[in-house]
This record gives sequence, C-alpha cells and structure tokens, in this order.
Amino acid sequence: MASWKEIDTHAKEWTKTAGKRLRESFKETLNISTKSNRNDLVTNMDKETEEFFITKIKENYPDHRILGEEGMGEGVTDLNGIVWIIDPIDGTMNFIHQQRNFAISIGIYENGVGKIGLIYDVVHDELYHAVKGQGAYMNDVKLQELEPVALSDMILSLNATWVTENKRIDPAILSKLVKDIRGTRSYGSAAIELAYTAAGRVDGYISLRLAPWDVAGGAVLVEEVGGLVTDLRGKPLDLVNGGSVFACRPVLHEEVLKKYLADY
Ligand code: IPD
Ligand code: CA
Ligand code: CA
Ligand code: CA
Repeated sequence: MASWKEIDTHAKEWTKTAGKRLRESFKETLNISTKSNRNDLVTNMDKETEEFFITKIKENYPDHRILGEEGMGEGVTDLNGIVWIIDPIDGTMNFIHQQRNFAISIGIYENGVGKIGLIYDVVHDELYHAVKGQGAYMNDVKLQELEPVALSDMILSLNATWVTENKRIDPAILSKLVKDIRGTRSYGSAAIELAYTAAGRVDGYISLRLAPWDVAGGAVLVEEVGGLVTDLRGKPLDLVNGGSVFACRPVLHEEVLKKYLADY
C-alpha cells in the first residue's frame, strides 16, 4: 500500500496544478450551465478539474474510490477503504461572478476517518492543509490550536438564507444567535469558511444544507486544531448523504448547541 506521506505529497501537487489551471482559465470564455435550478451553476472548469483529479487518482491509486460533486467518480454509498471526497470548485458562483473566493476542497478518508484535508483558496494562493495527528498549516505557517472565545465576541460565518424564511430552520432560532454575537460574515464558499474557522479568522460556521464534498476537507482541518464539527443537533456528520453543519471553536460549540439550537 502507498504511504500516507506519498498520497499527501501527490494530493498537494495535484491541487496546486489544478489551481494554476483555474487561474489561467480566467483568460478564456467559460461554458456555464445550470443544474437543479437557475442559481445552481456549473462550468466546464468544474468538470475539467474533477476529471483531472480522477485521472491522477486512478493512475496512481486504482483501489481508492472517489466521491466528487460533478458525478464523475463512481457512485459511492459508504466510506469503506480509502475515499477521496472532492469538490473541484467550491464557490462556483464566486468563480463565475467574482473570479475570487472559491476553493478546491479535498478530504481523504480511510474507513470513515478523515486522514488528509486540503483546501486551496486559488486566487489568494492559500493552501490550507492538515494530516490527522500532524497539525494543520496555511502554506508553511502552522495553525494555532483553537482557544475558546466568549459568545459575545463571536464572529460567525453564516449565509443570510438561514435567517430568512426557508425550508430547513425556523429563522427565529439563528436570528437570536446573530443578535447576541459580535458579527457575521458570508464568503460563499463552505470550504473557505471552514478553512477560516480552522485559522481562527472566524469563530464558527453554520449551514443547514451541505453536501459531503463541501465539508470533507474542512472537517479534517478544523478538528486538527481542536475545533468541533457536527450537525446542528451535535451529531457526527453524515459524509455520504450530507446535511447540516456546525463547525466551531471548543466550548463555544457546546454553548451554542445548548443555548440556541436545543429547539432545532
Ligand atoms: C456551494 C458553496 C456555498 C454553499 C452551497 C454550496 P458549490 O458549493 O459551498 O457556499 O452555501 O451550499 O453548494 O456548488 O459552489 O460547490
Ligand atoms: Ca455546485
Ligand atoms: Ca461545494
Ligand atoms: Ca463545487
């Protein structure tokens, strides 16, 4: 079996190469189409990037499986063995409209346990990277262990969808939390929001609906620096079907679950 060190080196190298290609693609005309609705966008570069990873993984690790957003990995319904969970572009809307604030996100899991997390903020050239048990880094800078902060000082990454009328949560629940904390931010890329949680740039991130590839890489990063990543009921994430996500600094995670999410 290939060593984790080799897998890690490959994952980083391929991510950097794919990121460079994404930056170069700004000069070209994108081919944009929609998926489930008119705001659910996908481009030729989402597909090309996913294909690039699939080709590399299959060439080097034919026994590894792949769960990718654009569906070019085979149907994965469990996390047995080694599974690469890939979002080739997280923040496609930003990629199209802003040409920034999007990321490549990769989580490599072995029998359901996150071993490697990689989030590459392509335009800022910030590679967030963690190997389970070996610490987390932003480029070559080691990320500090997350310390608790007071709820009144909390900056929460949150999409406004969840404090307006929606199908998944009573907006009153998160409105109350938003009123009690210092402030909110919304970057439009779950992967970047999780990387920022790991780096302490925000204190937590909440979403009511994420897919496995949105969160697989970020969960490894946040947990590696002592943060907690669960669903909004405090249960472990479902990395096959997706669901809600609450990533946060220690202690504060428990406080928010108890005081604000008990009624959810
Ligand atoms: C989306 C982004 C966005 C989140 C959506 C995701 P995509 O991923 O992470 O921030 O709010 O739920 O679907 O489609 O750009 O890869
Ligand atoms: Ca998408
Ligand atoms: Ca995504
Ligand atoms: Ca995507």
